[in-house]
Amino acid sequence: MSNYHIKHLEEYYQVYRKSVRNPEIFWEEIAEEHFMWRKKWDNVLSWDFTKPEVKWFEGAQLNITENCIDRHLYTRGDKTAIIFEPNNPEEEAQHISYRQLHEKVCRFANVLKEKGIQKGDRVCIYLPMIPELAISVLACARIGAIHSVVFAGFSSIALSTRINDSNCKMVITSDGSFRGAKTIDLKGIVDDALEDCDGIESVLVAKRINSEIHMKEGRDHWLQPLLDEAYHDCVPEIMDAEDPLFILYTSGSTGKPKGMVHTTAGYMVFTAYTFKNVFQYREKDVYWCTADIGWITGHSYILYGPLCNGATTVMFEGVPSYPDFGRFWEIIEKHKVNQFYTAPTAIRALAKEGVKHVEKHDLSSIKVLGTVGEPINEEAWHWYDDNIGKRKAPIVDTWWQTETGGIMITPIAFCTPTKPTYATLPFIGIQPALMDENGKEIKGNQVDGRLCIKFPWPSMARTIWGNHQRYKDTYFSAYENKYFTGDGALRDEVGYYRITGRVDDVIIVSGHNLGTAPIEDAINEHPAVAESAIVGFPHDIKGNALYGFVTLKESGESRNHDNVRKEINQIITEQIGPIAKLDKVQFTNGLPKTRSGKIMRRILRKIAGKETSNLGDTSTLLNPEVVQDIMDNVL
Ligand code: PRX
Repeated sequence: MSNYHIKHLEEYYQVYRKSVRNPEIFWEEIAEEHFMWRKKWDNVLSWDFTKPEVKWFEGAQLNITENCIDRHLYTRGDKTAIIFEPNNPEEEAQHISYRQLHEKVCRFANVLKEKGIQKGDRVCIYLPMIPELAISVLACARIGAIHSVVFAGFSSIALSTRINDSNCKMVITSDGSFRGAKTIDLKGIVDDALEDCDGIESVLVAKRINSEIHMKEGRDHWLQPLLDEAYHDCVPEIMDAEDPLFILYTSGSTGKPKGMVHTTAGYMVFTAYTFKNVFQYREKDVYWCTADIGWITGHSYILYGPLCNGATTVMFEGVPSYPDFGRFWEIIEKHKVNQFYTAPTAIRALAKEGVKHVEKHDLSSIKVLGTVGEPINEEAWHWYDDNIGKRKAPIVDTWWQTETGGIMITPIAFCTPTKPTYATLPFIGIQPALMDENGKEIKGNQVDGRLCIKFPWPSMARTIWGNHQRYKDTYFSAYENKYFTGDGALRDEVGYYRITGRVDDVIIVSGHNLGTAPIEDAINEHPAVAESAIVGFPHDIKGNALYGFVTLKESGESRNHDNVRKEINQIITEQIGPIAKLDKVQFTNGLPKTRSGKIMRRILRKIAGKETSNLGDTSTLLNPEVVQDIMDNVL
């Protein structure tokens, strides 16, 4: 029996049991039957979480783009692979067939080679959501170059940090981007970033907004003429199963961003298998995930997972509010979208605008709805269910992370009965554990604890680029022999999981992971600032927003506070990007600290969230007197 496509709950339990009892046999069958290999593996899995080292399908050889493109050419050559929906609804959508995608990726791959990119080189991609983004990612994979996509909302400093961390040789960008009514000068941001990047040999520039930009002689090249000249076919580079496919940066609670390294075979198998099942994708369906390819959701569930299944995947350049708040629903109607996958923050923002925008559109094509990126609150869940799914489309609340590569805890559409705010059951092959404060696993139901995973899964990140020790310290040191997710969760009476949120100093704002340390570092660069601490507080639309407690130097006290507030946000925008701006800045006389000098964010979190009835024990503080003062001046 093929376990590739699960169709009902009984089957889920059956297949789940098999995947846990005999993981190697299970994954071997899935890999064997549904993918194209140049050489089969010698060993399905070897692992040791103490090192940590995990290898899936060792000895196998493949190219992921053959799986995503070439193998569909005979059966689905004319089928649309990617529908590109532009920012402006007046501009025509593009339908790129698998055959066209093949040619575009091959030409691009040949351009990369011609510019000196070889297997194993790192290529930074800093592009808006235009077809060149998808094509350049796949072109890198075609020739075995490691792509590092940086979300095009990050600042030049954030970009240069990422380029340098992984020693990229090339940047692929565009003259600019459209975002709603605005245009953004992407190339200018790249130019600023490259002032600090010695390793970049060439920059390829796609034309999108037709603006006048500076092209640096010898370094910068317009993309289109190179593509026009390039040969239309490119033999794929044969990769080992564990060769890196890409690096993707994610925020940590401390230090610089972590370049998570994903490898080839396991990532491919797991993203394809989860996509097919979670969304119950069928051959003629049109699937749309609204994420940006600059995040893991876009990598796994706009590109690799869907394309591996020969799906039609929509790529949207714009924002949900332009030209009005009906844009998402208009796109669903226009392309007859069957599976729609978005983030709670978008749902809340659209719900706030009322159902009038929804009612104008025919959403009857919708079969499955998905959500990802942060906990979804009950109200948003019901709004989505009532107004978008019309109570007929199951909502798959998918919990996973940049580090996990693919969906980990989730309902399977039409199989798993859903429950608002619950990600429900572990996906096939995933073995979660809840841990208590003493490092012991909490068994049984109706319990809560810290969420770990106790057995490897194929798409887990293998390391942090250039810093394996940090990988070990962050994920494998808190609990013996387990991967620690950084999230808290509870398990209800039937074994359903509900993710309760981060238990570390990562704050999720509008679905974006932000570490407190880099933001505090940025604030502390302001000449008037002595020290600062950032916490999250509940926000109706963003889920969490940022609250900064800032102590000024004596010399800074005379400064106009409103100006300092603005300047602080300006520095944050320059160093990280506008997504990390603070909603509130409170000036304090001091920050609560432990005797060892550590800032007690727990107390600040409660004050910012106006939950001051129980602040916990403050007697161990070095300076308990500051707490009352902070409470009295809370914003
Ligand atoms: O806290 C969890 C939250 O997002 C974190 C991972 O963020 P990132 O690496 O940016 O990946 C986001 C897209 C996969 C998790 O540690 N998170 C993600 N999905 C959910 C969630 N929290 C609750 N429910 C979810 N469905």
